[in-house]
Amino acid sequence: MNTQTADSAFIRACRRQPVSRVPAWYMRQAGRSLPEYRATRAGTAMLDATSNPDLITEITMQPVRRYGVDAAILFSDIVVPLRAAGLDIDIRPGVGPVVDKPVSDETDVVKLRALEPGDVSFVSRAVEMLTAELGGIPLIGFAGGPFTLACYLVEGGPSKTFDRTRSLMYASPAVWDSMLGWLTDITIAFLLAQVHAGASAVQLFDSWAGIVSPEDYRRGVLPFSRRIFAALASQDVPAIHFGVGTGELLGLLGEAGADVVGVDWRVPLDEAVHRVAPGKALQGNLDPAVLLAPWPVIEERARQVLEKGRTAESHIFNLGHGVLPDTDPDMLARLTDLVHSIPAGSPG
Ligand code: CP3
Repeated sequence: MNTQTADSAFIRACRRQPVSRVPAWYMRQAGRSLPEYRATRAGTAMLDATSNPDLITEITMQPVRRYGVDAAILFSDIVVPLRAAGLDIDIRPGVGPVVDKPVSDETDVVKLRALEPGDVSFVSRAVEMLTAELGGIPLIGFAGGPFTLACYLVEGGPSKTFDRTRSLMYASPAVWDSMLGWLTDITIAFLLAQVHAGASAVQLFDSWAGIVSPEDYRRGVLPFSRRIFAALASQDVPAIHFGVGTGELLGLLGEAGADVVGVDWRVPLDEAVHRVAPGKALQGNLDPAVLLAPWPVIEERARQVLEKGRTAESHIFNLGHGVLPDTDPDMLARLTDLVHSIPAGSPG
């Protein structure tokens, strides 16, 4: 546990302790919407940037300086631990993760090796540098959820519907279970490396888990996510669990064992409260597309999110998914000021 940040609004809200104002941070706050990010990244490939502790530190700090957010999120990517474990995977600009040889059967799975902490020493080093620089501001470490990582492994690249992934899950449960078992081990090792280096909280991005039915989620995804949160339980760091389009799965996401359930923009927070069993904080859920609208629209919608968030045991303000690349950074800075100007528990 990072004791310097234990009293921050973000960590207190994750633990459902009282706060004077609702904490805010933004998924994908570090990235292409910031001109200083584009300048820092110029000429450096994405996965080279995520392997360089100085660049990781600088890019992680950029949104903290500009937006006054209540938490930093490590600049990295969900594929970083997979590459560190020897998988031939790259991030293509404007495309996303691409895998040279997709996984389709058991022989592909047995070739995969475990992740040793030394494989991600550059991440540990960056987390140490960042926690020293951030002081009382919490650093969120993160990893991709096993289902979302499997999507890229099986498809070999991005997809809208991940049909091959779902089909493998239905047709070959044994292959599926061993592949997700491997991804779960990698994810645990990657998250523990970040926590041991000083991260104050972690978020598991199972971004694409919303494409499976509750029944299939319960059989093919939940046991693995549950194992991840159980492995973190002794670390005393709050954990957040998020996926896109998970309206039908919110209850199950809560069952996986995180302290905070992230909600996308499709389900209002006062409805999400009824779908998630008691004992959880909620995070979310302003539609990132709202930020492309004029300020009065942003303000009205943000106030609505805060208002509905008051029905939760505890609320962390965020977007319903990542910041869109065309977002005007000034709007995010104003948004943070707005959230901070409203006392927690008061009508928006
Ligand atoms: O949130 C943050 O600010 C921290 C950094 C972060 C990145 N990726 C940096 C990144 C985080 C948390 C992620 C998570 C991630 N990566 C997810 C889960 C979150 C989500 O959005 O649902 C997923 C599915 C990925 C896989 C991935 N990596 C995609 C789909 C892309 C975008 C491809 C594109 O160019 O459109 C990436 C690349 C990536 N990861 C960028 C950044 C800043 C853009 C790279 C660039 O600058 O060109």
